[in-house]
Amino acid sequence: MSHQGQSREWNSSAYHRLSQPQVSWGKKVLSRLKLRGDERVLDAGCGTGRLTAELIAALPRGRVVGLDLSRNMLVEARNHLRSKPVSLVAADLLHLPFESAFDGIVSTAAFHWVLDHRRLFVSLRRALLPGGWLQAQCGGGPNLARLRNRVGQLAHTSLYAPYLARFKEPWFFAGNEQSAEMLRDAGFVNVETSVEAAPTVLDDAHEYEEFVRNIILRAHLRQIPSEALRTKFLAELTERATADDPPYSLDYWRLNLSGAVT
Ligand SMILES: C[S@@+](CC[C@H](N)C(=O)[O-])C[C@H]1O[C@@H](n2cnc3c(N)ncnc32)[C@H](O)[C@@H]1O
Repeated sequence: MSHQGQSREWNSSAYHRLSQPQVSWGKKVLSRLKLRGDERVLDAGCGTGRLTAELIAALPRGRVVGLDLSRNMLVEARNHLRSKPVSLVAADLLHLPFESAFDGIVSTAAFHWVLDHRRLFVSLRRALLPGGWLQAQCGGGPNLARLRNRVGQLAHTSLYAPYLARFKEPWFFAGNEQSAEMLRDAGFVNVETSVEAAPTVLDDAHEYEEFVRNIILRAHLRQIPSEALRTKFLAELTERATADDPPYSLDYWRLNLSGAVT
């Protein structure tokens, strides 16, 4: 697999097992949809399909397409959604292979992994039918500022600097006003955006380490060439999190995005 191929990949079985925070946030997003039950809806960045399953249940006469860039995620989603009426597509959100195809697009916990939101929103708008809507949430605002600050400090120590000092964060955490402007520029109307705190407390050091390893810092850790050093890096972050109040808490913030096309 190419380097680019690796960087898009996830440990999908770990994500499926650990993604309870993302699933709870996503369920709140789905609860905002006002569905008739017959719409064609795209789950943009569907991951292992835990929320896609909820969407399928809410659309008994509709059609759901789950789309993701990661083959591992799609294999896990295929397994999780077996026997359910869904199409799974491997594609990049920046180059959606759809034009005027959907009544709605839902996306949760995915857009911050895409660095160019202007292009992303144009790609999404193209995939929607006239009258279509977008309901999405991703990381935004000061998302994970405390953890990122710690990562930044460690990255500049002599042990990790050769691998991480020049590594660019793989996320874009946009602000709500900036996002509203970009959505309008892409042709969306009735745009609403907001940023909300979503602090998340993990059970213990082991769960914290697993979560940070497999979900948040997977791209960072790929820069570090040995498992021993990766484990040490994570242990240093976990030790700092032990002293937090409450321990093992992650300072998540979510950006809500909605809009429609005419
Ligand atoms: C944190 S997971 C969220 C999965 C699911 N929506 C959930 O809430 O559990 C982020 C997903 O976005 C996908 N993703 C990231 N960048 C993408 C892109 N450019 N195109 C398609 N999918 C992408 C990842 O492969 C991953 O499956």
